[in-house]
Amino acid sequence: MTKVWDGFIRGFHWLLVIGLVVLYVSGEEEWMDLHFVTGYGVLALLITRLIWGIVGSETAKLSRLVHSPKETISALKGTDNRYGHNAAGSYMIMLFFVLIALQLISGLMTTDDILMEGPLVAYVSSDWIEVAGDIHHANIDFLIAAIVVHVLAVILYRIRGKNLLKSLLTGKTTTQPDQPIPNMKAGWIGYVIFVVLSVTLLMTWGAEPFLALF
Ligand code: HEM
Ligand code: HEM
Repeated sequence: MTKVWDGFIRGFHWLLVIGLVVLYVSGEEEWMDLHFVTGYGVLALLITRLIWGIVGSETAKLSRLVHSPKETISALKGTDNRYGHNAAGSYMIMLFFVLIALQLISGLMTTDDILMEGPLVAYVSSDWIEVAGDIHHANIDFLIAAIVVHVLAVILYRIRGKNLLKSLLTGKTTTQPDQPIPNMKAGWIGYVIFVVLSVTLLMTWGAEPFLALF
């Protein structure tokens, strides 16, 4: 068994799943205080993941997400064998980062035209606010489509005999590619960065909606 996913990447994934479900439901139900507080939490999570992609474990590195078309095709055929994300999965993950960032940034410039406005609304023109609102409404469908493809891909790999989910849950893999064992970092460092960012965001932009929850 080789360790491929550190504790932060594993926690990041499931916190992201929970965060996005809460954001979707609270957005649709117009529970705006919860929506804003969770939005700042997911913003802190994504920024931490990007920092972790520079200072974290080798399998978390953003530089390892870029692959040649040849590697991507062999990953789709199931013949690509490596520690960490395979070439096809890497493009899916980059797409997630872009779609989630777009949803977060557009949210920061969106208003419900009643009580709540994102913290950047005050700094942008009314045209931008309208565009950001349109993006915030439309992009959610692309995000849902990407999630469906992602889960189907995990199921397809399972049918082909590769249990990616088990590796993501345990952090370990039994596959032994012809590659050096990846260098891992302690996941708690990632959580410290996440907590510092979350608390900072909640004490600034998030203070009002956070207090309104109680
Ligand atoms: C809101 C829904 C979801 C989102 C946004 C999402 C997003 C992601 C992201 C961003 C990664 C990359 C992790 C990283 O390197 O930071 C990932 C990996 C992964 N996800 Fe999800 N995920 C979702 C739901 C699920 C579900 C429901 C499953 C279980 C069936 C799942 C299984 C996996 C697995 C197994 C990996 C590792 C893939 C690999 O080995 O390359 N995900 N996901
Ligand atoms: C990945 C993160 C986010 C997701 C998935 C998300 C999702 C949603 C959804 C599904 C809606 C309902 C849209 C509709 O009725 O068509 C919504 C509305 C809204 N969101 Fe977000 N959101 C996110 C982040 C944010 C952030 C960070 C903010 C601001 C801090 C924000 C501010 C708003 C506002 C003000 C509305 C109401 C828009 C209106 O009434 O027209 N969102 N969001």
